[in-house]
Amino acid sequence: MGHILAIDQGTTSSRAIVFDAALRPVAQAGREFAQHYPAPGWVEHDPDELFDTCLESAQAALARAGLAAGDLAGIGITNQRETTLLWDRENGRPVHRAIVWQDRRTAESCHALTTAGHEPMVTEKSGLVLDPYFSATKLAWLLDRDSNMRAVAEAGRLAFGTVDSWLIWRLTDGRVHATDATNASRTMLWDIRENRWSPELCALFRIPEAVLPEVRDCAADFGTTDARVLGAAVPILGVAGDQQAAAMGQACFRPGMLKATYGTGCFALLNTGEAAVPSSNRLLTTVAARLDGRTTYALEGAIFVAGAAVQWLRDGLGVLGRASEADTLAARADPAQEVMLVPAFTGLGAPWWAPEARGALFGLTRNAGPAELARAALESAGYQTRDLLDAMRADWPDAPEAVLRVDGGMSASQHAMQFLADILGAPVERPEVLETTALGAAWLAGRRAGLYPPEAEMAARWHAERRFLPAMAEEERARRHARWRRAVEAVLSV
Ligand code: G3P
Repeated sequence: MGHILAIDQGTTSSRAIVFDAALRPVAQAGREFAQHYPAPGWVEHDPDELFDTCLESAQAALARAGLAAGDLAGIGITNQRETTLLWDRENGRPVHRAIVWQDRRTAESCHALTTAGHEPMVTEKSGLVLDPYFSATKLAWLLDRDSNMRAVAEAGRLAFGTVDSWLIWRLTDGRVHATDATNASRTMLWDIRENRWSPELCALFRIPEAVLPEVRDCAADFGTTDARVLGAAVPILGVAGDQQAAAMGQACFRPGMLKATYGTGCFALLNTGEAAVPSSNRLLTTVAARLDGRTTYALEGAIFVAGAAVQWLRDGLGVLGRASEADTLAARADPAQEVMLVPAFTGLGAPWWAPEARGALFGLTRNAGPAELARAALESAGYQTRDLLDAMRADWPDAPEAVLRVDGGMSASQHAMQFLADILGAPVERPEVLETTALGAAWLAGRRAGLYPPEAEMAARWHAERRFLPAMAEEERARRHARWRRAVEAVLSV
């Protein structure tokens, strides 16, 4: 009973990792699943596939660890956030495919609500900006599909959930309809200060409260898996949205601590402790964790394209065989050429929130080639992170001097991480265990099971595998950053 299974249900794959009693990963498995694009800007996932790939990954990880479900002390779940599901409580069937966080189908309704002057109230209560990214307008879209749907929902027959709720529902065979406070805080229906579903937000988005899950702490009892699912009944003891779980896996427990996860996009979270700091710079105020009934908050900035810029070099331009080659290629770039990429392929996220913006390359010469493009792609993540940190500092001047803890695929790039430290003018730390998202979920479940230590001891165990220190002269940093800002302005004005 000394192991914990973490299930990490992400945007492109589901993964499962078994952790031992010392919180070390001992076995893992993952499965990719289909992305559905039924119309431009629309992105959907099949709910059954989300569950099945989690289950297959869990079974494979347990087999690799030489364990059975009965050997587990608990399960922790972490998930892609905001993605919206609605299902029938009676037969357990989803009424539609899951609408993924990236989906822009509700851009017009968000625009209409903003024009009608509702954004200040939405931001004040939810901490979020009125953007299709979040669940509320997606759920309203699902309820509007059929004239009968709202009546059925009001009668209590339908259940809404983010992916964590759906997995809990399926794992417990429909006995538990619950979520945690971090996932609730991404729905745009949760009052982050009052710690409850907001009647005002539910009224604005016309969401019947009968569809909403019960909101629990991140380390709590989320029910027990049905014995038929994994072969034994296992308690589900931890739940958090993936970016919040990564912040916990990075042991960012104290105010002022900061992490950035570089996957396809990048999500940076600055812990602000018990203060829900409002943003004047279009960052998000969100729940960092709720543990033992105590809510802590974070300022969050989301960048849509980080590692995806390298994927574009590989899949779109064909100048890379593997993403990991970007580093070696970038090392060959001509230092005299200053090619710069603004990777606004799907618009710009925080702090710009410009969905219509599109990408651009600057500084091209006849000699610019794959090496200069690779360097520009890696550095674009650094520039965008700098914009997020500038916004964080402006929103929360009391923040201590930043050290950025990094994880995610792109954090393996030496060039990207050194440039990040250079352009931030702050140290960047990469941890020994890079599986920080799953680690955070496992820690939550193990904390609840009494297997893993509380925050302070967890923080003491955290170690940097590598520390990148800024080596760029202040003048050069200022010059490059000013050039980046001009490039972004150009992109925003085209
Ligand atoms: O807010 C969306 C985020 O949670 C998605 O994370 O890692 O699945 O791309 P990821």
